[in-house]
Amino acid sequence: MRYEGTNLSLSLKRQDMKTKKNKSSVLPHSNFVRGRFKEDISEITAGFTASLDIDKRLVDFDIDGSIAHIHALKKAAIVGEEEGKDIEKALLRIKIEIKNGKLELNKKYEDIHMNVEKRLTELVPESGAKLHTGRSRNDQVSVDFRLYVKSEIRNIAGVLIDLRTELVKIAGHNIKTIIPGYTHFQHAQPVSLAHHILAYYEMFLRDFKRLMNTYKNTDVMTLGSGALAGVDFDIDRRLEADMLGFGSISRNSMDGVSDRDFALEFNFTLAMIALHLSRFCEELIIWNSFEFGFIKLKDEFTTGSSIMPQKKNPDVLELIRGKTGGVISNLLSLFIMMKSLPLTYNRDMQEDKKPVIESSDTVYNSLLIFKEIIKTLKFNKENMRAGLKDDSIYATDIATYLVKKGIPFRKSHEIAGKIVSYAENTGKMLSAMSLEEYKKITGVIAGDIFNIFNPETSVNSKKTTGGTAFKEIKRVLKEYEEEIENDKISLQALR
Ligand code: ARG
Repeated sequence: MRYEGTNLSLSLKRQDMKTKKNKSSVLPHSNFVRGRFKEDISEITAGFTASLDIDKRLVDFDIDGSIAHIHALKKAAIVGEEEGKDIEKALLRIKIEIKNGKLELNKKYEDIHMNVEKRLTELVPESGAKLHTGRSRNDQVSVDFRLYVKSEIRNIAGVLIDLRTELVKIAGHNIKTIIPGYTHFQHAQPVSLAHHILAYYEMFLRDFKRLMNTYKNTDVMTLGSGALAGVDFDIDRRLEADMLGFGSISRNSMDGVSDRDFALEFNFTLAMIALHLSRFCEELIIWNSFEFGFIKLKDEFTTGSSIMPQKKNPDVLELIRGKTGGVISNLLSLFIMMKSLPLTYNRDMQEDKKPVIESSDTVYNSLLIFKEIIKTLKFNKENMRAGLKDDSIYATDIATYLVKKGIPFRKSHEIAGKIVSYAENTGKMLSAMSLEEYKKITGVIAGDIFNIFNPETSVNSKKTTGGTAFKEIKRVLKEYEEEIENDKISLQALR
């Protein structure tokens, strides 16, 4: 078939599918903002520029922002007391209408902000038309988006605390469970399972702190910036900030409408959380394999194969790992969208919500399901113990033993290497070599060498803070428990 070129209006219509039928071919899009135009916007332009499918997620924040603004307009005597009440009532009604699916949002009004305003002017035509006094969509969008990010941060930070709590619980039950620790994915040294699990606690703690930091940078109220220069009315910005729960108000209207650092920081933190989850999932997938058999996933988190009846696949873990790619690329999209924009608002910035909303949903859902998987994980301690049976894992302990007998570490390292090589060549385990064989390699070795080949001894010989010794793990666990309680309090204190 001959290629005839793409029918642009057709493909745009398809993109339009989710929204309401456009009855006229040319959209009466102009009701609000096209006073200066001779022609109406074309259907294709309307479809292309609309952002409703994405920003409808901001509806509650948009209405809250408008209510705060109405209070400021009342205080500035731009709307009367009664008028203000009517507008507020109508706005609350719109919130419920949208929630109950009673109000049909329409793409021909471009975005959620215009849809709300359109409905408002239907309900209270005269006074509703005053709502946008002293406000631009630029500062409106900024405030809505900040309110959304703040709310997402509170939710995600809450799940992170729950996940950290679970990890501490698991660690508490497994201080004495010993597994091989790996570097280069090769047997390295025995470690406590708790120590391994708590490494992830540290990652999720850092993520929590990052979220709290991002919260501070997001917690700035930008209404009153107008389009870019500020507004000509006496808007009480403090009042608006207090009503909306913002900690501070912006000090530069141009930065106010064009700052998206908070969105970038939030997306970076989401990408970090996804990365940490992904690494954890990767380990659990390996531990869940037949070859390792360290853990067993609960049936409800695994799926069968369409062809191989024996399979129980760790799909949920794989999907969390897989979705991480999308979360990282959303961060990049946002960076790339912003990088060349001159001050102040540019329409490019309408593309800021999709990557943030998408990543936030993905990470929130991933955290939720991951926490459930972790909670129901079964550890196979026998297989973990069996993972330690190649006792070359004690080679470092032999070197340490020699250091304690007065041999410099580099020399000790070399001798321990020779011992491992001897065992390998003779097909013996280190613990099965005789004292004579040891003595042939170096005379300083005595009968106490055989105390080394014990996981508990190896783990508990670690003396440093932050090491894997049982005593040290018990100590940090107390710190973690306290830390979690404090973080719960700080999270609750966020407005
Ligand atoms: N939907 C737009 C956005 O999210 C609204 C802002 C439009 N502002 C403008 N000056 N055209 O960015």
